[in-house]
Amino acid sequence: MARRPPLLSVALPSDTGRVLSIQSHTVQGYVGNKSAVFPLQLLGFDVDPINSVQFSNHTGYPTFRGQVLNGSQLWDLIEGLEENDLLHYTHLLTGYIGSVSFLTTVLQVVDKLRSVNPDLVYVCDPVLGDEGKLYVPQDLISVYQQKVVPVATMLTPNQFEVELLTGLRITSEEDGLKACNTLHDAGPRKVVITSALIDNKLLLIGSHKKAKEQPPEQFKIEIPKIPAYFTGTGDLTTALLLGWSNKYPDNLETAAELAVSSLQALLRRTVEDYKRAGFDPSTSSLEIRLIQSQDEIRSPQITCKAVKYR
Ligand SMILES: Nc1ncnc2c1ncn2[C@@H]1O[C@H](COP(=O)(O)OP(=O)(O)OP(=O)(O)O)[C@@H](O)[C@H]1O
Ligand SMILES: [Mg+2]
Repeated sequence: MARRPPLLSVALPSDTGRVLSIQSHTVQGYVGNKSAVFPLQLLGFDVDPINSVQFSNHTGYPTFRGQVLNGSQLWDLIEGLEENDLLHYTHLLTGYIGSVSFLTTVLQVVDKLRSVNPDLVYVCDPVLGDEGKLYVPQDLISVYQQKVVPVATMLTPNQFEVELLTGLRITSEEDGLKACNTLHDAGPRKVVITSALIDNKLLLIGSHKKAKEQPPEQFKIEIPKIPAYFTGTGDLTTALLLGWSNKYPDNLETAAELAVSSLQALLRRTVEDYKRAGFDPSTSSLEIRLIQSQDEIRSPQITCKAVKYR
């Protein structure tokens, strides 16, 4: 019988890896997988996307159409990969998930991938809502708390999501750090609060618990706030954090500086381009200039520096 060719990214492992990315897909525009796959590819990863939904455009437009994948359809794809011995991943990335049944299947996927590669890194963006508004059914929160957070390697909530997951209010930097400790105790070694508005400043707060007996290394990055609202930036942030923290596994600060700096360059370009097109960028939610910013994604200049706590 003819020998099947090996999966080259397993036979010849790279220092990047193979990511299974389970996120939304939009035909037009950049959110979910459309916002995460390209930058990860630019950073050298093989990325296998599973589209949890396929919509014409993101849901912030007046209308959208398309299809939603359910849990058993997700599992079908996983079984197809397994039948052909194609389930070897170094990373799993998940973002917006809209139902308990889909989230429960994602948990089965985590187990399955870890049975093939016990070192699988699971990067979870626990998308629940933003600025006090819930985007998902209420009953998803307890599934994230009890089942998902414990198996995540890196968690990237925003301020509101941290509050929902920990039950703690975040009104100061100290609150943010305490909440990171609570999340570490529940599982993930790396926690990044990707955006928090504290004392009228936009902050990213990072926390890396390197060893059980030691307190986590914690830092913040102050982000210059642009007077505009963008879609897909949260998904892009998590993808960039995955990419850079794989290159700097022991230095979450550097990873976050690189992620934030490239994102800021992209956002500045986005605003400039809307202005050039004669549109006031502060009046509506904007699509990001992802493809046009590929140089800044591949080799960012660090413009946003981390400040260590303690
Ligand atoms: N108006 C803005 N000005 C400056 N930076 C911004 C702005 N909007 C988004 N960002 C950047 O995008 C990152 C992610 O923020 P965003 O609010 O889009 O997602 P999130 O709410 O933190 O995460 P998620 O939605 O994935 O849970 C921030 O860390 C920041 O770097
Ligand atoms: Mg936000």
